[in-house]
Amino acid sequence: MTTRQDTNDLSLQALTKDRMTTLLPQIDGLAADEPWMAWTPENYLREAPRKWEFSRVAIVGSQVVGYAICSVRGRFMWLHRLVVGSDLRGARVGARMLSQLQDIAEAAGLQGILLKTPLANARAISFYQREGCVRLPDNQGFALLRLSRSGCRVLVGIFTSPTTSPGLAISTR
Ligand SMILES: CC(C)(COP(=O)(O)OP(=O)(O)OC[C@H]1O[C@@H](n2cnc3c(N)ncnc32)[C@H](O)[C@@H]1OP(=O)(O)O)[C@@H](O)C(=O)NCCC(=O)NCCS
Repeated sequence: MTTRQDTNDLSLQALTKDRMTTLLPQIDGLAADEPWMAWTPENYLREAPRKWEFSRVAIVGSQVVGYAICSVRGRFMWLHRLVVGSDLRGARVGARMLSQLQDIAEAAGLQGILLKTPLANARAISFYQREGCVRLPDNQGFALLRLSRSGCRVLVGIFTSPTTSPGLAISTR
C-alpha cells in the first residue's frame, strides 16, 4: 500500500485514452467513497477538446493515486474533476497536481484553469481557494473557481437548453 511518505515520489503522467481504458478500474476506485462522483465508463471516455492531451494520472511506484480530467474551453483549461484516493487525501497530492496543471495550461498558452464543484463540497472549495483559486459568482448549485496567474477577468455562466446537456458560457475581457 502507498503511504504518505511515498508521495515524495509522485509522478504525474499523461492520461491518454488508451491509458484511461487500461486504468479505468483503478481510476474509478479512487472516488468510490464519494457517491455523487459515480461515473460510467462512457463518462470517463467521453471526448472533449484536447482532453487526452491535458488529462493526467498521478502514480506512486506502480499505484494509481489520483487523476485529473481536463479539456479546453475558450482560452481556459477546464478541470472536469480532480481526485486523490481517500487513503492519501490531505498529503498535498492534490495541491501538487493542481500546480502542475497550472504549468501545463500556461505552457499551452491558456489563461488559466476553470472548474466547478457542488456547493455542498465545502472541503474541496476551501482546498481550491487555499491553492489560489478565485471564487466566481455561484451558479445553479455550483461554486465556480478560476486559477490564473495572469489576473485576467472572466465571466462564466452555466447554461442549459432543452437540446443540450448543461454547458458553460465563458467570456474574457
Ligand atoms: C479535493 C482533493 C482533490 C484535494 O486533494 P488532496 O490531496 O486531499 O489535497 P491537499 O492534501 O493538497 O489539501 C488538503 C485539503 O483538501 C481538502 N479536502 C477536500 N476533501 C478532502 C478529504 N476527503 N480529505 C482530506 N482533505 C480534503 C481540504 O480542504 C483539505 O484541507 P484540510 O486538511 O485543511 O481540511 C481530494 O481531497 C479529493 O479527491 N477529494 C474527493 C474528490 C473531490 O471532491 N474532488 C474535487 C471536486 S472535482
